[in-house]
Amino acid sequence: MEIRQATKADYPAIYDLVQQAFKTAQVSDGTEQEFVEELRKGSGFLPELEFVAEDKGKLIGHVMLTKRGIETTEGEHGVLLLAPLSVAFDYRNQGIGGKLMQAAFDKALTLEHSAVFLVGNPDYYKRYGFQSAADLGIANGSEIPDEFILGIQLVPDALKEVTGTLYIE
Ligand SMILES: CC(C)(COP(=O)(O)OP(=O)(O)OC[C@H]1O[C@@H](n2cnc3c(N)ncnc32)[C@H](O)[C@@H]1OP(=O)(O)O)[C@@H](O)C(=O)NCCC(=O)NCCS
Repeated sequence: MEIRQATKADYPAIYDLVQQAFKTAQVSDGTEQEFVEELRKGSGFLPELEFVAEDKGKLIGHVMLTKRGIETTEGEHGVLLLAPLSVAFDYRNQGIGGKLMQAAFDKALTLEHSAVFLVGNPDYYKRYGFQSAADLGIANGSEIPDEFILGIQLVPDALKEVTGTLYIE
């Protein structure tokens, strides 16, 4: 199994993978594969932060990080959004989701990003170091319940001096 940056040639396979993966998600509106395409068209798209997991020539996992901002009294503080994260059904519970996130975080650090947020199940993401945005001092500007808005500091204390609101959707 190899984790590498996604290329344009991967896009059709990523569409199918995300669509299939979210059929078994706890929360899904069935449009996550279209969301990936929207994110790629948006101003926050960072091609170097879209990753796939590949096994014997087949795509089995995908993750992307795109730019978002926390609104503060001093203006916008740049962070990343992790969404979506997908692992093919037959390859789950082998740590591939964790490895995809780690690969994306390692690359994000080299590009001087220091914090990542997402909407997700805390029972899953806490094992990879995420905590609630509220615990990081970041207010939730969305209608989604606070417990599902999670963040991680890639650089220790990156958000210590940051107070503001994250409009995650
Ligand atoms: C969520 C997902 C990416 C996890 O991928 P994975 O490679 O199987 O994850 P990992 O191997 O890193 O971690 C597996 C562990 O997380 C747990 N886990 C997986 N999904 C979970 C969830 N939604 N809630 C709580 N725990 C979860 C597994 O039970 C397993 O626990 P164990 O190690 O104690 O046995 C994958 O299940 C998936 O693609 N799901 C459908 C799409 C989705 O829901 N994406 C996330 C949206 S927030």
